Amino acid sequence: MVSPTLWAVSDLHSAVKANQSKIDLIQPQHEGDWLIVAGDVAEKFELIVSVMETLAQRFAKVIWVPGNHELFSSERSRYQGRDKYVALVQAMRDMGVATPEDPYPIFHGITVAPLFTLYDYSFRPGSLSVEEALQKARKNNILMTDEFAIRPFVDIRAWCWERLAYTTKRLSRVHGKTILVNHWPLVREPTHRLMHGDIALWCGTRHTRSWPKRFHAQAVVYGHLHIPGSIRVDGIPHIEVSLGYPREWQRWPQDQRWPYPVWEVNS
Ligand SMILES: [Fe+2]
Repeated sequence: MVSPTLWAVSDLHSAVKANQSKIDLIQPQHEGDWLIVAGDVAEKFELIVSVMETLAQRFAKVIWVPGNHELFSSERSRYQGRDKYVALVQAMRDMGVATPEDPYPIFHGITVAPLFTLYDYSFRPGSLSVEEALQKARKNNILMTDEFAIRPFVDIRAWCWERLAYTTKRLSRVHGKTILVNHWPLVREPTHRLMHGDIALWCGTRHTRSWPKRFHAQAVVYGHLHIPGSIRVDGIPHIEVSLGYPREWQRWPQDQRWPYPVWEVNS
C-alpha cells in the first residue's frame, strides 16, 4: 500500500499456537496505517494484553473492541464479568489503544467508532421466548461456552441494553461518515450463513439493525462468526474480518484478503 490504510482483524484466538504465524503477518505497509482488532484476541487477561501490546507497537493507531472470549472467566479468575471489561479498558488505554469508552478516533476524516453491544438472545424465531429458544438450542445440542464463562458473572441482557443506550447516545453526537466496529454483527443477515441456526442467539441484538444507515456508516466491521467475507445490507458493506481457528483459516482460498483493508486513503 502506498497510502495510509485502515486494516481490520478479529478472532485472533491467540491461545492457539498455530495462530501465531498469522499474527506475525499483521504488519503495517505504511507508517500511517491503523489497525482495528474486533475482539476474541484470547481469554486470559495477560495474553490479551501482551498480544495487543505487540500490535500497538506495530501500527500508528490500534482500535480494540472486546469479544465474548475476552469476557470469559471462572470462579478462580482475577477478574470476572464487568470488572474484567473495566480492567481490559484500562490496560488498553495504558498502551494507547482506543476502546469503546474513549473518544472515537478519526482516520483521515472518517470517524472510526469501536462499539461493545453484546447480545440479548433476540436473534431468535419471533414465536419463541428467550427461555424457549435456549431450550430448543439445548435440545439441538447447541450450548455456547458463554453460558458457563460469562453468564454466571453478569446479567448479559441487562448489560447489552445498557450498552445500547450508552452507544446510541454517543453515536448521535457524531457528525459525518463513520466506520462502525463491533465484535458481534449489527444485523442478522450474516447469521443466516451459520451451520446451526440456534447459534444466532449468542450473535447480536435486533436493536442495532438501523444503526449503520442512521449513523452514516461507510462500512461495518465485525467478527465472531468465523465466516470471513462481506455482504451488503441497505447498500452498506458489512465485513467479517475474523481469522478463527486453524481448521477454519486453512480452508481459505489463496486470494483471501487478511488483514482486511477497510479504508484506503485516496482510494
Ligand atoms: Fe466471539
